[in-house]
Amino acid sequence: MHFNQMFAALAACLLVSAAPTPSIVDYAVRIEKRSVPDFLASVDEFNELHRAAQLSAAAYAGCSKGAFDVTIVQQIDNATTDTQGYIGYSPSWKRITVALRGSTALIDFENDLDTTLVTPTLSGVKFPIGAQVMHGIQSPWSSVHDLVISTVKSLIVQYPDYTVEATGHSLGGSLTYLAHIALAQNFPEKSVISNAMAAFAIGNAEFAAFGDSQKGHLRRGNNLGDGVPNDNPQFTHYGVEFYGSGTAASTVKCTGELDRTCSAGNNATGITLGHLSSFGVNVIFDGFGGCKN
Ligand SMILES: *[C@@H]1O[C@H](CO)[C@@H](O)[C@H](O)[C@H]1NC(C)=O
Ligand SMILES: *[C@@H]1O[C@H](CO)[C@@H](O)[C@H](O)[C@H]1NC(C)=O
Repeated sequence: MHFNQMFAALAACLLVSAAPTPSIVDYAVRIEKRSVPDFLASVDEFNELHRAAQLSAAAYAGCSKGAFDVTIVQQIDNATTDTQGYIGYSPSWKRITVALRGSTALIDFENDLDTTLVTPTLSGVKFPIGAQVMHGIQSPWSSVHDLVISTVKSLIVQYPDYTVEATGHSLGGSLTYLAHIALAQNFPEKSVISNAMAAFAIGNAEFAAFGDSQKGHLRRGNNLGDGVPNDNPQFTHYGVEFYGSGTAASTVKCTGELDRTCSAGNNATGITLGHLSSFGVNVIFDGFGGCKN
């Protein structure tokens, strides 16, 4: 499906890839300089991030019946807001999965971002006073929120012992920041595990604190040299960041939201070559191999 668009987006990315990308050697030196003993990601954490990157890549590929280990039961596709993804379940991982697609015009959405803060309203979610998110995320998420919640609700009835998860890359990762809260609030009996890959921040500090207070947890999965996590510096990320270059051995668990040995210190902004890789997955191409159509 969107292959030509994706290819054009890739070409556009290559044109803007002159932004600073630290070399692997610089990165290794910085890793060695760190004193915190437990900063390397565990193999389990890396495997979670690698799988989340695969599921996110599959959302770009437009898989219809299955994506890697996930059996798809519902497409997410709102033409008005151009919000896509899929909902399914994974017997091997015992997960109920919501995967959200990133922008297919990667270079465009940077310009199109609507960062005006709004007070979000979503069924089943009680936001604290003062929490605000950018309209450019509230609008697409709210257009699919009710469908996602009703589909997940029926999957929970069928697979009551499964964990609920949300993931996506880039714009899909930023939508995950809101999806994680929406799911945790609507299904308070569940621990929600989410992976926001290569996401830009979407809300104010009150929103971020609300995200961190949900049952379950959210990981930020960022690739070496990616500038997108540094976009929207006026907003606050939440969750625990993991930063690496495609292998478990290179993936560190970061401290706080602005750890300068992680994305906040890579001095890049916007879409760089690093944005297209995620924990060993090429997000442009590798999703197609996981599709069952
Ligand atoms: C798509 O989103 C628009 C805008 O939020 C909404 O009015 C419409 O009902 C949605 N379409 C479907 C099929 O849910
Ligand atoms: C980012 O900029 C700072 C300040 O100029 C510099 O010390 C640091 O080495 C740079 N980081 C990378 C990854 O280039």
